[in-house]
Amino acid sequence: MANQLLAGKKGLIFGALDEQSIAWKVAEKAHEEGAEIVLTNAPVALRMGKIQELGKQLGAEVIAADATSNEDLASLFDTSLQILGGKIDFILHSIGMSINVRKKKSYTGLNHEWMHKTLDISAMSFHRVMQIALQKDAVADWGSIVALTYIAAQRVFPDYSEMADAKALLESFARSFGYHFGTEKKVRVNTISQSPTVTTAGSGVKGFDEFLSYADKMSPLGNADASQCADFCVVMFSDLTRMVTMQNLYHDGGFSMMGINPSVLIDS
Ligand code: NAI
Repeated sequence: MANQLLAGKKGLIFGALDEQSIAWKVAEKAHEEGAEIVLTNAPVALRMGKIQELGKQLGAEVIAADATSNEDLASLFDTSLQILGGKIDFILHSIGMSINVRKKKSYTGLNHEWMHKTLDISAMSFHRVMQIALQKDAVADWGSIVALTYIAAQRVFPDYSEMADAKALLESFARSFGYHFGTEKKVRVNTISQSPTVTTAGSGVKGFDEFLSYADKMSPLGNADASQCADFCVVMFSDLTRMVTMQNLYHDGGFSMMGINPSVLIDS
């Protein structure tokens, strides 16, 4: 049930590909909570994905932008500011992709050209988005910027491969840019570290199903799903969290605090 937590707010949401995408759920919930939004994704995702359906469903414009292109991002911000008729109150960065993971390259045998792409798409894009948003003064005072991340940035999950390094960089950008955005614009920047979740990006990781079930057993509350992640994003976009910034916030049913959960041993 909606509480109009985002009434009157304007948002820009990156990364809704299909109904499973976390960004898809965030867009639906943000709309339900009264926000007006613009959706964006890579040009190929607009051609292949279902994002246009979501746009129709929510009455939201869909704009193509490759998050590794400063030119695309600059034009995305210009158009979004026009469509929304004012500054943006919240931004969701929900972007990740690794060709090395897709092609099942081992961590010790990575293709470094592809690794450049992974870091560019999955991490540097966050810096680009914030830099362009700041330069264009596109975010309203007390606005909120959130990116999605995973605990492999802190602990070793071998099959997550180079995405772990991309997430570590992403989280670092949230801290570093959080300082600048906070002092210059009173805008907060945080990352949400989500449980493993069944989506196109998630399922690309080797042994994902087994891992999902392990994480579910390890977490006292079980895995958080995409819809619950969307609820948390809404709270982070709302005025209820105005003083939270530069944090990596775990949304994982308690997984990050566990050493061992006896139920994992009993079942194995
Ligand atoms: P998803 O595959 O639905 O979303 C990834 C999005 O990135 C897609 O919409 C894709 O089109 C977009 N993208 C890829 N290259 C792009 C580019 N060059 N420019 C613009 N957009 C581009 O998968 P999911 O799981 O919803 O992923 C969203 C975020 O959540 C990612 O950052 C992911 O790493 C993170 N995450 C996912 C978890 C999972 O288990 N699924 C767990 C923790 C974090």
